[in-house]
Amino acid sequence: MTTYLFPPDFWWGTAVSATQIEGAADRDGKGKNIWDHWYEIEPNRFFNEVGPAKTSQFYDRYKDDIALMKKLGHTSFRFSISWSRLIPAGNGAVNKKAVQFYDQVIDELLAAGITPFVNLFHFDMPMAMQKIGGFENREVAYAFARYAEICFTHFGDRVKTWFTHNEPIVPVEGGYLYEFHYPKVVDFKRAVQVGYHTMLSSALAIERYRRLGQGGKIGIILNLTPSYPRAEENERDVEAAKLADAFFNRSFLDPSVKGTFPQELVAILKQYGLMPHVEEGDKAVISGNTVDLLGVNYYQPRRVKAKETPIGDGPLMPGTFFDSYDMPGKKINPHRGWEIYEKGIYDLLMNIKDHYGNIECFISENGMGVEGEEKFRDEAGVIQDDYRIEFISNHLRWLHKALTEGANVKGYHLWTFMDNWSWTNAYKNRYGFVSVDLGKDGNRTVKKSGWWFKTVIENNGF
Ligand code: NOJ
Repeated sequence: MTTYLFPPDFWWGTAVSATQIEGAADRDGKGKNIWDHWYEIEPNRFFNEVGPAKTSQFYDRYKDDIALMKKLGHTSFRFSISWSRLIPAGNGAVNKKAVQFYDQVIDELLAAGITPFVNLFHFDMPMAMQKIGGFENREVAYAFARYAEICFTHFGDRVKTWFTHNEPIVPVEGGYLYEFHYPKVVDFKRAVQVGYHTMLSSALAIERYRRLGQGGKIGIILNLTPSYPRAEENERDVEAAKLADAFFNRSFLDPSVKGTFPQELVAILKQYGLMPHVEEGDKAVISGNTVDLLGVNYYQPRRVKAKETPIGDGPLMPGTFFDSYDMPGKKINPHRGWEIYEKGIYDLLMNIKDHYGNIECFISENGMGVEGEEKFRDEAGVIQDDYRIEFISNHLRWLHKALTEGANVKGYHLWTFMDNWSWTNAYKNRYGFVSVDLGKDGNRTVKKSGWWFKTVIENNGF
């Protein structure tokens, strides 16, 4: 019996990104991006010293992978175009072999009855663009808009769902605050500038998309972390949670959907001398080019408490304004350590419904990373990932509740289709419906969850 039935045409699928699956990082004219460069200079920063050249070989195996996706009943698939594969120098000539590759991937998906959702930027700044400052440099926002337009022109006849960025706050945090992305800078003011230009680049790309009149939709993918205060009755905790929400969620959510930045955030940036350089006309670009739809990546919530010490003279960081709170008794993914809080998916969807005009949205990523997943492989060679089935179904139950209460949520994509390379963690945590054997030429085997998800799609529910 199907207890949780989803609407017809609900989007069921997975998400991936170019750097994490393609491989072939130095083939067919691809330029270097920051990951290729970082691995070259500091391979020991990467788990088991596995770099971005050795990933899941989608570049060579895309036909088989898409055939497997079809066999598993998927109806949509999000992938990203590699800017440095398409335009090796970031802002110069187009690489014909890259056009050919993405053409083939799109055509193969369409022939399999799978709708392609294409994202333009998934953490992979071309090295030539990073050398001139990455998104810290306004010129790179324009170069990104040019790259976006080239993608629309080549692929927009067949691709009707586009996204400008995936988790735009992550390169800001990773690259300019906490050193987990290149260029490993720690500087709040520069981080704000990078974030601002990233936002501007998204609006510029949307402007160009609309000008072309291709009749599709364009959005952005945000990792929303619902912020919960330590104690609801403690006003200072509640204030701290609101501030964390403004920093980590609303900084991109508000301008992307409403065309304005949160006033609380702007006030703090002004007070502490952190305002970015803004030019005349930017406001009109940002407010005039909001998104058609929103992808939401949800993994875990943020628990926050008020600062216990007064703001001192130390270096400014977001943590200057609020503290994170380690909630006793929280449910934890034992295989990775992240908190699991399924109701967060409901809370964020209801927040979008109630405060963001109930804009069309979907869960563009949700998933469970597992370290050492091989130990769950049975004698028949199948990974018995019942924990993942439980994780997904618990989240889907809350998503379903939001749907019945009117949230405009159109689909669910798992991170991810097949195990892939996750930034500096490389292949440490496995997330896929399909396992990839790194030692044996990347052989694929569907996990128990992959077969289970097939039945969910067939029944349009569970
Ligand atoms: C979010 C990112 O979009 C993706 O690149 C990453 O690998 C997953 N989360 C898992 O952490």
